[in-house]
Amino acid sequence: PPLSRILNLQEMEEVARKVISSKAWAYYSSASDDEITNIENARAFTRFFFHPRVMRPVGNCDPSTTILGFKSTIPVFVSGAALAKLGHPRGEANITEGCGRTSTIQMVSSNASLSYAEIASARVSPSQPLFFQLYKHKDRALAEKRIREVESLGYNAIFLTVDAIVAGNREKDVRAGWTEEDVEAVAAEQQGKGRKGELPRKKTDMEELEFEVDTEGTAGALVANDDRNMTWNETIPWLRSVTKLPVVVKGVQCVDDAVLAAEAGVDGILLSNHGGRQLEYALPSLEVLYQIRKQRPDIFSKLEVYIDGGIRRGTDVIKALCLGATAVGLGRPFLYAQSAYGAAGVVKTIRILEREIVTAMRLIGARTVKDLVPDMVERVDWQPLAKL
Ligand code: FNR
Repeated sequence: PPLSRILNLQEMEEVARKVISSKAWAYYSSASDDEITNIENARAFTRFFFHPRVMRPVGNCDPSTTILGFKSTIPVFVSGAALAKLGHPRGEANITEGCGRTSTIQMVSSNASLSYAEIASARVSPSQPLFFQLYKHKDRALAEKRIREVESLGYNAIFLTVDAIVAGNREKDVRAGWTEEDVEAVAAEQQGKGRKGELPRKKTDMEELEFEVDTEGTAGALVANDDRNMTWNETIPWLRSVTKLPVVVKGVQCVDDAVLAAEAGVDGILLSNHGGRQLEYALPSLEVLYQIRKQRPDIFSKLEVYIDGGIRRGTDVIKALCLGATAVGLGRPFLYAQSAYGAAGVVKTIRILEREIVTAMRLIGARTVKDLVPDMVERVDWQPLAKL
């Protein structure tokens, strides 16, 4: 269908599902085990209702904000997700262009399917901000080399992912026939690690068994060289010592770790369970945000708090902001949008969200994002029937 017919993010996803390969669909849509955390990420939003305020001047509504000091048209950024080229030949560059055209910010995955330089050169203007998602290599020298590379390319912040020290069990991937080599090859090829064009030969049954023993399956390849011994006391000071860029920890999943992150002095935390792709039964991100609001509201004055996972509507964004989030991230929706319509799909996604956010802000009685406060949301103990 023409892009003008796409009314919401769900419809965009349906188009993507039709146009991408079943293998790409499996990789993008998959989540761990029975996909409970992934489903509940979205459903958690249905338990939060508004206390709208009326008779407030909202004619001149402004949904813009700053994230780590960088301007964004709406309080939404692209959460870094691997292998955008699986869905569209221009891959991550579609997202870069779409964000540039809408003055929003892309977080680039360590496992992007274009080189970090190619992505940087897809910026609409040289001042367009880019965030970098870091999978920290267990070899500090190699990790530092990667940070130097993105710094020199003008990336503006480091999002250190801490929820993926091993890969979650994603059975859709396994069923779709993803092999370790497949996934690694696509990402590594672009990061100058060679392997170009090398298609893995079929394994013998005995080799298959060996493979099962010493990997964690598909996505395991992407994180196999990662540091599994990161700590608040060592890793954060090390990161601070190698870069002046703002540091955000991506993958905080409980109140206690939010407190430790604040004590470690990072610039921000992204409450995230990796879109339900890592620990099955990790709490929905929104519930973690709600618990921080209830138990440790002081956290919000110490660092910026973001969330991702299951955000698909403007009202979802507003609920997170009312509870104290500075901004929210979306992962799959941008992979789907660029798969279906290239950069135009990304622009359209931002515009849809912007319209939904502005409508909700006006109806809730908020002229700017600062007017969104905890008193405007209530968590109910019943689950509405809709959006199952
Ligand atoms: C991801 N995510 C992710 N996170 C990360 O830190 N590095 C990565 O390389 C990837 N790769 C990746 C691939 C795919 C296909 C998906 C769906 C997700 C997680 C991502 O950043 C984000 O946390 C979730 O996607 C947010 O959930 P939603 O918006 O997809 O529901």
